Amino acid sequence: MAKYKIAVLPGDGVGVDVTEAAMIVLDKIKLDAEYIYGDIGWEFWCKEGNPLPDRTVDLLKSTDCCLFAAITSKPRDEAAAELAPELKDKGLVYRSPIVGLRQLFDLHTNMRPCKAYQGNPLVYKEGIDLIVFRENTEGLYSGIEWHPVPENVRAAIDSHPNAKKFTDTSNEDMAVSLRLFTRKGCQRIVRAGFEYAKKHGRKTVTVIEKPNVIRETSGLMVREARKIAAEYPGIELWETNVDAMCMWLLKNPLDYDVLVSSNMFGDIISDLCGQLVGGLGFAASANIGDEYAVFEPTHGSAPKYAGQYKVNPMAMLLTVKLMLEWLDKKDSAQTLEQAIAAVIAEGKVRTYDMGGSNTTLEVAEAVAERL
Ligand code: IPM
Ligand code: MG
Repeated sequence: MAKYKIAVLPGDGVGVDVTEAAMIVLDKIKLDAEYIYGDIGWEFWCKEGNPLPDRTVDLLKSTDCCLFAAITSKPRDEAAAELAPELKDKGLVYRSPIVGLRQLFDLHTNMRPCKAYQGNPLVYKEGIDLIVFRENTEGLYSGIEWHPVPENVRAAIDSHPNAKKFTDTSNEDMAVSLRLFTRKGCQRIVRAGFEYAKKHGRKTVTVIEKPNVIRETSGLMVREARKIAAEYPGIELWETNVDAMCMWLLKNPLDYDVLVSSNMFGDIISDLCGQLVGGLGFAASANIGDEYAVFEPTHGSAPKYAGQYKVNPMAMLLTVKLMLEWLDKKDSAQTLEQAIAAVIAEGKVRTYDMGGSNTTLEVAEAVAERL
């Protein structure tokens, strides 16, 4: 029997292409694993009314971790319009299956390293080496939303001293998405950032929020961060507002190190950081819980490139590296990163985004050859 059982969810569009690329590299590494493929994504929403079928959840429960590629998401009404005829008008509501997985498995920490590899023509500045820790289960992604607003929620809103300006708005004309933070959630993500900094000799942890305006939620995050920072002498806590941080990251990206933020701000900041190091073709991520983890490249399913083997597999290969680290295969992880870095530096085998004409799989083969 293989040492590890890994669920593989290629999902939609180019998810299938980059999963094939990942397998080329994993086979070469000879990871002692059994890979079990599962269903997720748009096809299953349209056919079954559920993009994350129960059998897939069960599959994940029976494995050590999951390698996930990409899914297509669409807004509520567009999603409903694509349901199979017999599923229409049944009140089914599309929810992103990756957001669902994060909540279902309590994958509270989203780790997104953004490193500028030497020789990558797409990087914004040489030497950038950022890592984003995004809270992954609460905040604006809590999934607690209303439209129209029910009476009991309305009553709670009306009882707030700042609610007078909404008196004339009807429940039908009001929508609410709850930005819910817990102390535990804030502590977990801040601690993940500091622990990483400690382990990897990083000097600063920047907490990115907006407590001057969003006093209670962002405020809770910053207050907890100050307490936790006191336990880590030698690592400085920096506090920035999310809007200013977008400017600072463009102006002085080399000044920063470990970044910590809540769910929505972390989502935005991690796309920005991804672009600084070459775009979504280089942005890897890990959704980590206490017992389980789902590894996914940050990019989407890019439907227009589906099945063309055009997109850059580097984000997926760097994601495999994160998975190997989590499985405690530190040597394989390091070797893989070196192979990736060497292929980038050599510049001979490149996908279109890097100015080349190689396919997704040729890039993966080039990395595998170096291993
Ligand atoms: C990400 C993505 C997802 C998110 C989408 C696909 C739901 O943007 O992983 O950053 O918003 O978290
Ligand atoms: Mg995102």
